[in-house]
Amino acid sequence: MLSSVLALLAVAPFFVNAQSPVYGQCGGQGYTGPTTCASGSTCVYSNPYYSQCLPGSQTGSTTTTTTTHSSSSSSHTTTSTGSTGSSTPAAGNPYTGYTVFNSPYYASEIAAAVENITDATTKSKASSVADIPTFIWFDQVAKVPQLGTYLAAAQAQGSKSLVQIVVYDLPDRDCAAAASNGEFTIQDNGQANYENYIDQIVAQIKQYPDVRVVAVIEPDSLANLVTNLSVAECSAAQTTYIACITYAIQQLNTLGNVYMYLDAGHAGWLGWPANLQPAANLFSSLYKNANSPSMVRGLATNVANYNALVASSPDPITQGNPNYDEILYIQALAPLLESAGFPAQFIVDQGRSGVQNIRSQWGDWCNVKGAGFGTRPTTNTGYSQVDAIVWVKPGGECDGTSNSSAPRYDYHCSLSDADQPSPQAGTWFQEYFVTLVTAANPAL
Ligand code: BGC
Repeated sequence: MLSSVLALLAVAPFFVNAQSPVYGQCGGQGYTGPTTCASGSTCVYSNPYYSQCLPGSQTGSTTTTTTTHSSSSSSHTTTSTGSTGSSTPAAGNPYTGYTVFNSPYYASEIAAAVENITDATTKSKASSVADIPTFIWFDQVAKVPQLGTYLAAAQAQGSKSLVQIVVYDLPDRDCAAAASNGEFTIQDNGQANYENYIDQIVAQIKQYPDVRVVAVIEPDSLANLVTNLSVAECSAAQTTYIACITYAIQQLNTLGNVYMYLDAGHAGWLGWPANLQPAANLFSSLYKNANSPSMVRGLATNVANYNALVASSPDPITQGNPNYDEILYIQALAPLLESAGFPAQFIVDQGRSGVQNIRSQWGDWCNVKGAGFGTRPTTNTGYSQVDAIVWVKPGGECDGTSNSSAPRYDYHCSLSDADQPSPQAGTWFQEYFVTLVTAANPAL
């Protein structure tokens, strides 16, 4: 027995070097490591920078250029208090009376993750996350054809189905950071590529006029234009971002069934008193210059962040900002928007906000350690300005890699409050997902 173990140890390094472990990297731009996966997992293309070994039946496969999608799906009905705002956009609260379609892609990620959890209680809690409505991100044009599949499945579920998507493919995306830089660059035909991406989304949705769509538009982009114009990439992207977002909202507006919320950062970003008026000016001027598209319902806040909608007390890292949680930020911003001609309503991401006071700095955003799944999606928000609490970031998908030699490395992902080692943004981060499950508040 002992000798066979020693014999195995002698040859093991060759196998270790030749194959990536489950959830390890197996391909991507600039990557030189193994392109085959450990037994029981398959190499799945995730983005131009990353392919990942995900649990699955085929063994030792090489990089493919397609993503896997499960055909299974389930749904969850939200209840509604309806909108009571005195000044609301033409379109009402899109969630009222509608059943939200659950992302089959997220369900497939969770199904794979659950296979690698041994504790029975954690396993069952983890499985239940697939039944909680979470937005579907279109972070690459190659994913857009899947939208039609989802819309068809949503339509098959009933007459009042709602699909939640994130429009996220701006050229020179994530201009103030590196972790989520995208596939298009301004220099290389970025605006035309983006318009084509939007046209493809529009073409898909056009085929399903009876399915309602809620779209979060371009996380972080306009917030970067409010506060980060000192970053060269952001000032260089300013005109293009505005042109692209204007194009997106005008085209999506023509469909009549797409309700849009522009991303508005979070309390610790645009919620600082000095940033509120500049933010209101930017959102309202963009909205008015686009001819006040009636299906722009308002703003999405806290996307992929960790702030509470209502914090019981200010986290010390909020350093005296009177708007130390999302509702205080919203209540401070809304009147400024209204008087600038943009009567906005809000949706707020609470997907990873279950545990508070976990960050060393308010600006830390990358895989913050100790986070737990948060308040479940609902229209019972308690606040007339807030249409719904939603889960936008699919918890378990990574915020960015901690590998300092990777092309999209961002130092935030190596800070002491960032969970490490972490894979590329958007790919599965098993250990992080398990923590979100076990630390969920309310408990799963
Ligand atoms: C990543 C995207 C991903 C999204 C949702 C972002 O940080 O860059 O690729 O789709 O998160 O997980």
